[in-house]
Amino acid sequence: MNYNKAENDIKKIIEESTNVLQKVVDYLCDNFEHYSWVGIYIVEGDDLILGPWKGPHATEHVRIPVGRGVCGSAAASGDTEIVDDVRSDDRYLACFVSTKSEIVVPIKKQDKIVGEIDIDSDTPSAFSDEDKYFLEKIGDMLSEHI
Ligand code: SME
Repeated sequence: MNYNKAENDIKKIIEESTNVLQKVVDYLCDNFEHYSWVGIYIVEGDDLILGPWKGPHATEHVRIPVGRGVCGSAAASGDTEIVDDVRSDDRYLACFVSTKSEIVVPIKKQDKIVGEIDIDSDTPSAFSDEDKYFLEKIGDMLSEHI
């Protein structure tokens, strides 16, 4: 999948749809082979609450305190996290045995972190800077919908 085409497709989904978060999650999971599981967490107080997701299995991590795990670290710092090898990162909260790498992209509304996009990949080191910039743009587009 071409990242520019995906950005335009997602722009249209956001303009034309209701239930935007679920539709964007579905789009990402369906169109990028290295995105094995895609979810959006929403910040509620000091916790991240799992919102829409798509993937082969549900995760037990439906509530993650800010500061815990890779997800909680990204929410605390506001910086995108890329973990090339989840087994070698002490912060990692395991969800799926098949996961090899992960990216977490904070979603900001006027500098406040309101949520994040979390993607697990069954491929080691699956996420490049291109994924990071692409997903950060998608995060910006979604911030008004959280
Ligand atoms: N691995 C994440 C937890 C969420 S699952 O990947 C869906 C973490 O370490 O925070």
